[in-house]
Amino acid sequence: MDLSSWFEFTVYDAVFLVVVLGFFFYWLTRSEQPLPSPPKELAPLTMTDMTVEELRKYDGVKNEHILFGLNGTIYDVTRGKGFYGPGKAYGTLAGHDATRALGTMDQNAVSAEWDDHAGLTADEQETANEWETQFKFKYLTVGRLVKNSSEKADYGNRKAFVRGAESLDSIINDGGEEGSKKDN
Ligand code: HEM
Repeated sequence: MDLSSWFEFTVYDAVFLVVVLGFFFYWLTRSEQPLPSPPKELAPLTMTDMTVEELRKYDGVKNEHILFGLNGTIYDVTRGKGFYGPGKAYGTLAGHDATRALGTMDQNAVSAEWDDHAGLTADEQETANEWETQFKFKYLTVGRLVKNSSEKADYGNRKAFVRGAESLDSIINDGGEEGSKKDN
């Protein structure tokens, strides 16, 4: 066997080598696909109390903001739209009082009407409270869910904010002072 024929380098080999090296060079230097732009942040809502009817439009469709009530407080959960957006796992809670659903761990336990939370067991109420402990540190507090418009408080121009351990009552008694001062 003539080994020298193994090392013959024809013009076809040269073309093949150029093509392979070309692909290799392209693969090494190719730029990464641009990352999708992050979801746009919506401006926080001005704090306000709402009735059940008013809350309903904040379902992520009629209004881009997604709000729900929990233990009488309204949270802006828009940043959790992967959970609460249209068609998502807990999308039924959007624009509703979520207390009963979260207390009973049944995402369909929501009502279009005012819910006085009657019939919730102590354990279920405790479960709802545990959710609230998380949410007041995670989501913006918008105001209170009220039965009648006449119960609405005045928050001045204060914007919805993550209130953490601060009680909503102390903010109401403050008359939205902090927000008004910031805006001046
Ligand atoms: C098969 C049953 C369920 C499974 C496997 C499940 C699983 C999960 C997982 C993996 C998360 C994300 C946790 C994280 O990323 O921090 C989550 C969050 C959550 N789940 Fe479920 N879940 C179930 C049922 C339910 C039910 C029945 C409810 C009642 C409405 C519920 C309400 C929630 C809520 C409110 C959150 C937190 C969303 C947030 O942080 O805003 N889940 N669940």
